[in-house]
Amino acid sequence: MTEIGISILSSDLLNLEKEIKSIEKSKADYIHIDIMDGHFVPNLTFGPDIVAQVKRMTKIPLDVHLMIDNPARYIETFASVGADILTVHYEACNQLDEVLSLIRRHGCKPGLAIKPTTSVESIKKYLDKVSLVLQMTVEPGFGGQAFIEATLENLQTLDLHRTHHHLSYMIEVDGGINKVTGKKCVNAGADVLAVGSYYINALNREKIIQELKN
Ligand code: DX5
Ligand code: ZN
Repeated sequence: MTEIGISILSSDLLNLEKEIKSIEKSKADYIHIDIMDGHFVPNLTFGPDIVAQVKRMTKIPLDVHLMIDNPARYIETFASVGADILTVHYEACNQLDEVLSLIRRHGCKPGLAIKPTTSVESIKKYLDKVSLVLQMTVEPGFGGQAFIEATLENLQTLDLHRTHHHLSYMIEVDGGINKVTGKKCVNAGADVLAVGSYYINALNREKIIQELKN
């Protein structure tokens, strides 16, 4: 069954507790937290303190998406504040093998993210070491952008590779996901949909999640 992670990037940050309760009520599988450093991406968002506070407020697993350069510096910090999945970008790491094992050593599931134009070929050698691959379906940095159709091909490649090599990583998509694009991604092999503005702006949030799951 498809799982849903709700990105709090576009949520009402002055009422974050209310937002988290609403995400719980609508039965999301993950809370997706976008960490941006103003360097790897042209935007700034949250630090570890917000992750710690969200963790204290909910039992929903936290899917922490690090859009930061040289993420090795912050693995221990984000693990200690309660990240369950800790995802780093291929484009932002020098020694990816070490970063992935560092994440595991700190008790989190390692995720590997790629931007829309990065090939699956470039990350193939790491795919037996990750719990999750995050295919960005928009350029990382901002919520509310339009889904990039060309990324569907990467999803099919990731799905085929997983089957051929008997691997078990989950495939997550992130950016521009709604009822229509979500369905295309699931058909192409995605297991987890990270959803931001489509959920946050919905009148009936529970219904949105049920629709996306089926
Ligand atoms: C973008 C972030 C996404 C974003 C998704 O860089 O990684 O998680 O919040 O938002 P929507 O669903 O609005 O594209
Ligand atoms: Zn994200």
